[in-house]
Amino acid sequence: MKKQTLLALGALALSAFIAPKIFAQDVAKDNTMNTETPKILIAYYSYSGNTKEVAEAIHEEIGGDLFEIKTEGSYPEEYRPMTVQAKQEIERGYRPKLTSSLDNIAQYDVVFLGSPNWWGTITPQVSSFLDSYDLAGKKVIPFITHGGGGVQNTVKDMNAQCRGCSVSPDAWVGYGSRTMGIAGWLEDLGFKSE
Ligand SMILES: Cc1cc2nc3c(=O)[nH]c(=O)nc-3n(C[C@H](O)[C@H](O)[C@H](O)COP(=O)(O)O)c2cc1C
Repeated sequence: MKKQTLLALGALALSAFIAPKIFAQDVAKDNTMNTETPKILIAYYSYSGNTKEVAEAIHEEIGGDLFEIKTEGSYPEEYRPMTVQAKQEIERGYRPKLTSSLDNIAQYDVVFLGSPNWWGTITPQVSSFLDSYDLAGKKVIPFITHGGGGVQNTVKDMNAQCRGCSVSPDAWVGYGSRTMGIAGWLEDLGFKSE
């Protein structure tokens, strides 16, 4: 074969290899390019880091915007008094003021919402988030971390507090910071890895 023909064939093979990759990256990075690609928010509260790890694992798989729910208020350093205070807060329906904020909640189609299981339910900080942002019409997908109790009332209560939105029953429910199986869970929900 002539040298020129070989070069042309080489260039063709190279472009066939590179072009789909570039296209796939553009679609994944800029959701506005493809209306079939939902705009994803991954919002979470984490007191001791487990739920944050799960949030980051989801983000690593499918991209989107990560948002840490932060609020006013603090807890005693010692574990037992901390859990007692949290229990009292939950019992009286405390809603701490948010100190982190989102620019434009309206832009998101899907909201992954993460909470630790506290006394069988979602944390007051996550309840404040649900009170503060209008998630009506959005698909809300819970991810819950726990210390052995499992889902308990977390997803049910999230659903009850989410006004006008549909909370998926197919939540991630994991012990501690477990992330093994996240990719398969996301795939089952219809999200493709980046
Ligand atoms: C105040 C408090 C209450 C908790 N209550 C429960 C519970 O009822 N059931 C359970 O399985 N784990 C419970 N846990 C354990 C946490 O759900 C678990 O450690 C979680 O992964 C912590 O997430 P984080 O590291 O993101 O804060 C509780 C932890 C705290 C601090």
